[in-house]
Amino acid sequence: MTNRDVDSFNARADRYDADFQGRRYHRPIQQAMVRIAARLAPAPRALLDVGCGTGSTLALFAAQYPAVALCGVDPAAEMLRVAQTRLGDNPRVRLLNAGAERLPFDDHAFDLVVSSNSFHHWADQGAGIREIGRVLAPGGHLVMTDPFAIGWNRWRARLRPHGRMRTKSEVETMLGAAGLSGVAWERIHVLGPLASYFVVADAPRAASTISLAAPARPA
Ligand SMILES: C[S@@+](CC[C@H](N)C(=O)[O-])C[C@H]1O[C@@H](n2cnc3c(N)ncnc32)[C@H](O)[C@@H]1O
Repeated sequence: MTNRDVDSFNARADRYDADFQGRRYHRPIQQAMVRIAARLAPAPRALLDVGCGTGSTLALFAAQYPAVALCGVDPAAEMLRVAQTRLGDNPRVRLLNAGAERLPFDDHAFDLVVSSNSFHHWADQGAGIREIGRVLAPGGHLVMTDPFAIGWNRWRARLRPHGRMRTKSEVETMLGAAGLSGVAWERIHVLGPLASYFVVADAPRAASTISLAAPARPA
C-alpha cells in the first residue's frame, strides 16, 4: 500500500534539512525536544526515535547522551538513507525501515521514546501509540512534538485534508488506551501563534498496568 506522506518525504529527503522549514521550523522543535527529554530522563539506557527522518534529532541526542544506545525507525527509505550518511559511523546508532504501527522490537525495549513532528503523518495513530506503549519499559518516558490541534492550530487542523492533527483529548485517549499516563503538555513557540507546537511529555507507564497494558503485536 502506498502512503502519500511517506512518498513525499522520500522525494524531498536530500533537501529536507537545509530548506527553510528544516532550518527555521524543524530544528528549533528538535532542540526543544532534546531539552525536555534531558530534563525528564537525564540518563536513559535505550532511546527510540519514531519517524526519525534524516536522523538530525538522533544526532542531537547522540551528543546529549554520550553512552546511550540510540535507535531510529522511519518508513521512508530515502530519509533513512540520509540518516545513514549522517550517523552510519556511530556504533551506538541503529536505523530501521519501519513505521510506528509495527515496531520491530521486544516489549519494554526502551526507557525513552521520542518522536518529532511525525505523529500527524502516521497512517494509524492509535496503533502507533499502542506500539510505543508496548516497547516502553516500566517508568519510561514518551516525548512527542507535533502540531496538535490546540489553540490556533485547531484552525490549521481544519484545513488539513488528512485530518490527523489531533486534539489534546484525542491524544490523551490514545495514550490512556496504550497504558501511558502522567501526561503533561508544553507549548513550543516557533514561528508565531499559527506555528506553535506542543509536546506530550512525561508519560510513564502506570505501575498498576505494567504487565496488563501491553497489547498483542499487530498481525
Ligand atoms: C516531518 S518529518 C520529521 C522527521 C524527523 N523526526 C525530524 O524531526 O526532522 C516526518 C517523518 O515521519 C515519517 N513517517 C511517516 N509515516 C510514518 C509512520 N507511520 N510511522 C513513523 N514515521 C512516519 C516520515 O517518513 C518522515 O520522515
